[in-house]
Amino acid sequence: MAYRTLDEVEVRGKRVLLRADLNVPVHNGVITDTTRIERVVPTIRELSDKGAKVILLSHFARPKGKVVPEMSLEPVSVAVAKVLGRPVGFVHDCIGPKVTEAVGAMQDGDVVLLENTRFHAGEEANDPAFAKALAENGDLYVDDAFSAAHRAHASTEGVARLLPSFAGRLMQAELSALTAALECPERPVGAIIGGSKISTKLDLLGNMIEKVDVLFIGGAMANTFLAAQGYNLGKSLQEAEMHDTAREIAKRAKAKGCDIVLPVDAVVAREFKENAETQICPIDQIPADAMMLDVGPKTIELISKRLASLKTLVWNGPLGAFEIAPFDKGTNEVAKVVAKLTDEGKLRSVAGGGDTVSALKHAGVAHDMSYVSTAGGAFLEWLEGKLLPGIIVLSELGGGLGLE
Ligand code: 3PG
Repeated sequence: MAYRTLDEVEVRGKRVLLRADLNVPVHNGVITDTTRIERVVPTIRELSDKGAKVILLSHFARPKGKVVPEMSLEPVSVAVAKVLGRPVGFVHDCIGPKVTEAVGAMQDGDVVLLENTRFHAGEEANDPAFAKALAENGDLYVDDAFSAAHRAHASTEGVARLLPSFAGRLMQAELSALTAALECPERPVGAIIGGSKISTKLDLLGNMIEKVDVLFIGGAMANTFLAAQGYNLGKSLQEAEMHDTAREIAKRAKAKGCDIVLPVDAVVAREFKENAETQICPIDQIPADAMMLDVGPKTIELISKRLASLKTLVWNGPLGAFEIAPFDKGTNEVAKVVAKLTDEGKLRSVAGGGDTVSALKHAGVAHDMSYVSTAGGAFLEWLEGKLLPGIIVLSELGGGLGLE
């Protein structure tokens, strides 16, 4: 995939529209995780150091085309300034005279953040007039928002068609990590896919069995596969209407030479609550009144052994109900094994998707993966094998995708 990067452009004195994804988690008005800010700051710093006027664009939450004061990016500008260690101006709109005036007053190296692009309906509609209004305040466009690249919106797609466009450093890092993990991986390659529902991950599973040699399935999704094989799983969460689909996926995987690994034992409980009384049961002995809430020790051992033979691993989704102890054990233990193999240089590990990153942080090993994506939905769509509009446009403009 070809796209242009910051190595191919002179930015000094230029107005650079930098599309970041500053859609950070907020609780009671406080930013609870600054990872996305930290990961985009190197691009901001590089542009600023090179003498660009850095104009940050981002969406925040889902205001649906209206001004919703609680969804203003203003508090985020303070957080960006803190991480960047330089002042970051803020403009109460992302198009129009206020922006033109503020940008006109910028010195080389200055950084400003514009208001939430989703306060305008033209953003999500990818309205050409809105994209044009955004583009009027820039000479160049740099896209560093891989995590929003699955959205064909004006600030992620439309504006790229109107200005010379480049991938930022975070975008580059995401693309090279994901390409190395799934498009041209060192084999054998495996994937850990967890989560509760097969029905929401059908495309993803379909693509994974085409691409990986071993597919570890965890979470309640594994229950559906096991129930489809005839196991009686008591009160465990599963999708009865997906049994045929699960059998079909298993059949196709076999035909493709992809080995699906399912739990062989489980941690079960009668209640889903902190420190509930638990029992470890083989998969064929789950009590009728209990539910499976985590993988058991034999499964952890089985997965760990198989992981040791892999060169590449993609991870999306926890293996159990990791938010509540002790059902976090399976995910924690396997995460530690992945971290160790990665630290030893034996495994390239790439993880992504909201819950996955929280689970790895919870296990204390997020920093030990080869790469942790900042993306949630975009990471899933990538795993589904979809081409993301924000990437397609950069690639087309950069001479990639055979459209030069
Ligand atoms: C995300 O958090 O995954 C991205 O910022 C995209 O947000 P969205 O799902 O509201 O488009």
